[in-house]
Amino acid sequence: MVEETSDSGNFLTNIFFEIVQSPLNLILVVFIAILVYKIIKNNRPSVPAPPPPELPKLRRDFTVQELKPYDGTQADGRILVAVNGNVYDVTKARRFYGPGGPYAAFGGRDASRGLATFSVSSGGDDYDDLSDLNTMEMESIREWDDQFKEKYDLVGRLLKPGEAPTNYSDEEEEQASSNEKEKKEN
Ligand code: HEM
Repeated sequence: MVEETSDSGNFLTNIFFEIVQSPLNLILVVFIAILVYKIIKNNRPSVPAPPPPELPKLRRDFTVQELKPYDGTQADGRILVAVNGNVYDVTKARRFYGPGGPYAAFGGRDASRGLATFSVSSGGDDYDDLSDLNTMEMESIREWDDQFKEKYDLVGRLLKPGEAPTNYSDEEEEQASSNEKEKKEN
């Protein structure tokens, strides 16, 4: 029994000297230690970053020119995208539409044509009436619109040149008074 312990003691001492005496072994040990440390560090659940504060809800219509600054590069980082004549607040999907994102070209733009034609480009600077698109492409735009409606807040309409914006303040007052009513009832 005693012999066994001293044998294993000798064995470990031999390994230790083997490692210390050879610079190559020493380098390997340090390398393995770094790898193990990295694996352990990556497996540890990191504390998730707190979500950015939510921006106040926007409710208004936009011309193509007014929409353009909302590409996520402004101080508040808000990103708006128009699809099928509707403007959506996609700020929460910054990783898609924000600067450097795969669909950054759609930020602050009317994405309809790009979505219908599988082209991730920002198109022109003028209003696009999409009149040259075929039935299938228009259908695809409506499907994207439905998807955006489910996922994002609707901000308003994308205005045609010369079209007057809708006044949404009545809607806001109505919403506020119905919220007030709900609160009183509860
Ligand atoms: C190689 C081709 C493509 C691949 C592999 C790809 C893959 C993806 C993936 C993985 C997502 C994320 C889905 C999620 O996490 O919710 C996504 C989202 C999206 N893709 Fe693509 N995509 C491709 C091409 C395109 C093209 C050509 C367009 C349109 C021009 C497009 C438009 C979009 C849009 C708008 C979103 C975000 C939708 C949202 O806001 O939820 N993709 N894509």
